[in-house]
Amino acid sequence: MESKLAVNLRAIGRILPQLACPHCGGHLALEGASLLCEAGHRFDVAKPGYLFLLDHGIHTKYDRQLFEARKRISDAGFFAPLTEKLAELCATYLDGRTEGLLVDAGTGEGSHLAEISRQLGGGYPVVGLDIAKEGIRQAARDYPGHAWITADLAACPLQDDSTALLLNILSPASYQEFDRILKSDGLLIKVFPEKDYLQEIRTAFALKESGGHAVVYERLLEEYTVIEEATLHYQKALSAERFRDLLLMTPLGWHLEAAQVDQFLQTDLPQVTVGYRVVVARRKA
Ligand SMILES: C[S@@+](CC[C@H](N)C(=O)[O-])C[C@H]1O[C@@H](n2cnc3c(N)ncnc32)[C@H](O)[C@@H]1O
Repeated sequence: MESKLAVNLRAIGRILPQLACPHCGGHLALEGASLLCEAGHRFDVAKPGYLFLLDHGIHTKYDRQLFEARKRISDAGFFAPLTEKLAELCATYLDGRTEGLLVDAGTGEGSHLAEISRQLGGGYPVVGLDIAKEGIRQAARDYPGHAWITADLAACPLQDDSTALLLNILSPASYQEFDRILKSDGLLIKVFPEKDYLQEIRTAFALKESGGHAVVYERLLEEYTVIEEATLHYQKALSAERFRDLLLMTPLGWHLEAAQVDQFLQTDLPQVTVGYRVVVARRKA
């Protein structure tokens, strides 16, 4: 059987013309399991087949344990209505397009992008970017066949006008950079949480009410024109193990004491509210 590295190298090979060297912006070519730019900058494709194209060190809370928990939550169907909605929107807006990438900026451990690609039939070239190396390593391991890249979404290692559709799911945005990589008729699909997202966790641990994400939305409207938007709301029941995972992966759980969490998990667990705003937008002329 072909190795994950070989499968992932082929996926990277398919998007080579759209890749840009993180140091000089030049085009990259594959040489064995390395990429080499015109100016001689070299990047090895790491096992199990991802690119590390970050040109600065970072400190992040998004570590191995968090992404493993996020994947278990994803496998439990927690995000399924969201990924289904996103796949439907991608199918609509990619219809008839023969050029340009589908990019997920802030892809985490890649489960949304892999599922969206699967629901699209797998034929579209997709790129998952995240600043956290551990998420990208897991994505390359768990979902081979796509281009997985450790990179800063504020300095995407992609050429200008390379992207037809840009996903930005529960992650920070960099509109200046998004404008650079998006084609002139390219679209952004941004997802952010609604005010009541995971409200049961706030109630159970007496945490501050969410201010909502009005600021995120207003910022988006400054830069982009909304074409379509939808609100998704659903309730999800989780086992105690998956609830522990949820508390591990959400910033709401990061400051809780272990004893507090253990005690809570022995109670009659509430269903959690999941609420997202999904916005399809075009950059302003
Ligand atoms: C809440 S997680 C969402 C991950 C994924 N989109 C999901 O919905 O499962 C936010 C993600 O944004 C990533 N992130 C934060 N700043 C970033 C940056 N400057 N460039 C790329 N990724 C970034 C984090 O590493 C993390 O994986």
